[in-house]
Amino acid sequence: MGFIAAMRAIDVKDGKGPVSSLFISSDIPRPAPKAGEVLIKIECFGLNRMDLGQRSGNYLVPPQAGRILGVEFSGTMEVHDVEGEEDVFVIGDEVFGPTYGGAYAEFVSVSTKMLIHKPKEISWEVAAGIPETWIAAIQAMYFVASFAPGKSILWHAGASSVSIVGIQLSKAHGASAIYTTVGSSSKVESCKDLGATLLEVTGGKGVDMIVDFIGIALDGKIVIMGLLSGSKVPDGLDLQVFVKKRIAIEGSRLRSRGTDYQMKLRDKLVQMALPKFVNGTFQIPVEKVFNWKDIQEAHALMEGNMTKGKIICMVE
Ligand SMILES: NC(=O)c1ccc[n+]([C@@H]2O[C@H](COP(=O)([O-])OP(=O)(O)OC[C@H]3O[C@@H](n4cnc5c(N)ncnc54)[C@H](OP(=O)(O)O)[C@@H]3O)[C@@H](O)[C@H]2O)c1
Repeated sequence: MGFIAAMRAIDVKDGKGPVSSLFISSDIPRPAPKAGEVLIKIECFGLNRMDLGQRSGNYLVPPQAGRILGVEFSGTMEVHDVEGEEDVFVIGDEVFGPTYGGAYAEFVSVSTKMLIHKPKEISWEVAAGIPETWIAAIQAMYFVASFAPGKSILWHAGASSVSIVGIQLSKAHGASAIYTTVGSSSKVESCKDLGATLLEVTGGKGVDMIVDFIGIALDGKIVIMGLLSGSKVPDGLDLQVFVKKRIAIEGSRLRSRGTDYQMKLRDKLVQMALPKFVNGTFQIPVEKVFNWKDIQEAHALMEGNMTKGKIICMVE
């Protein structure tokens, strides 16, 4: 990748470290779009759990990501040089989307296959908080778990940004029951408002689809999207239950997938959810918007595990 100028971006002192190692650097090379990519001037970016892992050096960063954090943004198209896409995106368009990395910056270079036009009804702040969790939840439910109406589903960490999406998608698409677990009582009501039932009973049947790891029904599917509780299973885990109940387990990871696959997910998001963002059916709760100068405070808020929505930073 060539570089044409410097820009400001959030960097991590010594490459990895605690919250206090985050700072705005003024001499980060501005990315030059490669074939199929456009340059976006960023208005806002969303924080994600994986940013904490990447900052502290405990996360497997895909090779396309680069060293600057940030996997989702909203902004304006600044440079456009993609053949055949002239009618779809033009300079000055307001867009949002996921990126492999680099969104904690003034500019990011992304494939047009991952871009979405921002409807005028959606603010920069809200748009920046949509891509990662909505696309990841769509991937887990439809591409990995083949969710279908009438199935029951359990979303662990129900107030997490991914589960906030999953609960709403499950409700909109005819789940017979939506269960969730939460780590504190303050999160209970927000999950119920979205349509979830707190996990108490399953009528002895179990649930058909679990987006994590817990008791499950016959022919159930477990989708592992994250490793917040660690990657090791306890000693003595008896695999019999997997055989007896014909359980399938599958890992789901968005960030390492190619642009053609991401384009299919983007298209599904646009078709399935974008109109419902505009008419207010789907909620995108934003916990707090920070000026990016306060990035340390923003990361500390996420580390506190008390949020019930997205943390967004505005690039000033
Ligand atoms: N595979 C993918 O493509 C993909 C994409 C996006 C996100 N993810 C993963 O999905 C997970 C949620 O992400 P998010 O952005 O929705 O996070 P988030 O909004 O920050 O919420 C995370 C919640 O998880 C719970 N939690 C935190 N630490 C935990 C621990 N050690 N053990 C058990 N629960 C813990 C807490 O809720 P409680 O207090 O209720 O327990 C916390 O509020 C992360 O693991 C993330 O990496 C995966």
